[in-house]
Amino acid sequence: MARCYRRWRNVLICVCSPCICLALLCIYAAVVLCMSMNGTALPGTTVWENGPESARFVASGTLSNNSFAALPKTFWERHSHGDAFWNLLQLGVDRHLNPILHPNKINRGFDNSTFYESLLKESFFEVYDRDSMRRNFDKLPQQMQEFVSHMQMRDYPTLILPNGVCGAGAKDEKELPLLLLAIKTRVLNFKNRQAIRQTWGQVGWVAGQKRNSSGEEEGGGYVRRVFLLGKEDPEELGVDVSELLQVESKLYGDILQFDFKDTFFNLTLKDVLFWSWFSRVCGRTRFVFKGDDDVFVNTPKMITYLQDQLKKPKAHETMKDFMVGDVIAAAIPNRVNKSKYFIPDSFYKGLYPAYAGGGGVVYSGLLTNRLHNMSKMVHLFPIDDVYVGMCMIRLNAHPIHHPAFLTFDFPEKEEEELCSYHRILLVHKRSPYQVVKLWANVKKTQTECWDVDLKNADKKKKKPKI
Ligand SMILES: *[C@@H]1O[C@H](CO)[C@@H](O)[C@H](O)[C@H]1NC(C)=O
Ligand SMILES: *[C@@H]1O[C@H](CO)[C@@H](O)[C@H](O)[C@H]1NC(C)=O
Ligand SMILES: *[C@@H]1O[C@H](CO)[C@@H](O)[C@H](O)[C@H]1NC(C)=O
Ligand SMILES: *[C@@H]1O[C@H](CO)[C@@H](O)[C@H](O)[C@H]1NC(C)=O
Ligand SMILES: *[C@@H]1O[C@H](CO)[C@@H](O)[C@H](O)[C@H]1NC(C)=O
Ligand SMILES: *[C@@H]1O[C@H](CO)[C@@H](O)[C@H](O)[C@H]1NC(C)=O
Repeated sequence: MARCYRRWRNVLICVCSPCICLALLCIYAAVVLCMSMNGTALPGTTVWENGPESARFVASGTLSNNSFAALPKTFWERHSHGDAFWNLLQLGVDRHLNPILHPNKINRGFDNSTFYESLLKESFFEVYDRDSMRRNFDKLPQQMQEFVSHMQMRDYPTLILPNGVCGAGAKDEKELPLLLLAIKTRVLNFKNRQAIRQTWGQVGWVAGQKRNSSGEEEGGGYVRRVFLLGKEDPEELGVDVSELLQVESKLYGDILQFDFKDTFFNLTLKDVLFWSWFSRVCGRTRFVFKGDDDVFVNTPKMITYLQDQLKKPKAHETMKDFMVGDVIAAAIPNRVNKSKYFIPDSFYKGLYPAYAGGGGVVYSGLLTNRLHNMSKMVHLFPIDDVYVGMCMIRLNAHPIHHPAFLTFDFPEKEEEELCSYHRILLVHKRSPYQVVKLWANVKKTQTECWDVDLKNADKKKKKPKI
């Protein structure tokens, strides 16, 4: 009996020990995997107070496509996309801010802008001073060289500030502003600004376009407006028009002008400086619309759409990440050297992260504040909407695609339908003359088209546009 028992015990030990070891190994692997997926702290490291920022270096599992260059897939990946200038610059910063590699640095640096500035500067000169980079630099197109030689600068002073604390239109408001319209424009585009002021960019209380169950109009919100400008070079322009802008500002109080040259590759500065201004004086505004001065926006529909977002369950949570627009997923940088979007592969390699087309995009005030913080850790990139995408992916936030943002205009024939402009939130591109006409027409057809739905969201997602 005893022998039999001993034999069975030996067999059991022989068979079970490896099983137990294997099981333990599996559990260990699962725990490690879980920890890395959630971005939770490993022993001895510190999690950032502000949450998802710490998850930047770990696959979030939500990206269907992993070939994003700017963000190393794992933090130990040293040479992600080799020797492209911007990738190398940012790799230095990303590695430095990695919460696993440098837990204390982050804590110390979080309230300290000097820390970020010196970090960006350090990584810049480390890469820029390499011989290979110098040789590369000489081969870059002129405006790219201009960009690179100024990309360290971002604290340009403001030349003109708007009247209200947070854009024009603050009078007699009974609640927090719902929407701030922040519109990129240039000094000479007076006509565009004027058309916007008279039409979709009117400030004050704006009613939504919706009926409640008893058939009455409901909803609305306070809208404010600010135009974002750089400065024209009087020598290039031949004349000095800066006084006119002063007059315009006195009249309308909606001008926010910065002291940098208003060029295509400097547009990113408008985002970064706008975020900074917003965080200081507008931080509690619910939503920001940021777009071009040659678009048409259906503001009443936009108001209703945004009110609906606020009514959704868990809105407070989702608002932290909320950005909606015409999302372009995994676009390839433009390699045609005649294009204004041209980015040589010695400057940037890999795909762009998902981003919302810059013609017009809406995001929450909460997200704006977070973008402001994150922008201090991301080197400027010459294409503004891509830059926003680069900040988004580092916040672990993902823009939402909505087909009512027509940054590439209507599909054929659809425009001619009676209510076509009631089914959209934004369309690009329209002249000031067209904007005025369209606005009048939208008002005229409002009763007939009151209840039409926005273009629906389950249409096929757009292919990347190059
Ligand atoms: C990523 O997406 C792009 C465009 O959608 C595609 O061309 C590419 O093959 C994808 N890469 C991977 C690794 O899935
Ligand atoms: C941004 O950073 C500041 C100070 O560094 C901090 O007080 C603030 O809470 C941060 N805001 C967000 C939205 O993360
Ligand atoms: C901010 O960072 C700079 C540069 O890293 C450092 O010299 C300074 O002591 C820091 N200040 C504070 C208050 O931590
Ligand atoms: C509909 O809206 C009107 C005006 O805002 C309001 O007086 C009425 O109580 C609302 N009805 C319902 C059922 O919510
Ligand atoms: C951006 O603005 C700065 C300051 O005015 C200017 O020196 C620089 O040349 C501009 N950059 C580009 C790419 O135009
Ligand atoms: C643009 O590319 C073409 C052909 O690839 C080349 O011949 C030309 O020199 C390039 N132009 C510039 C400004 O780099």
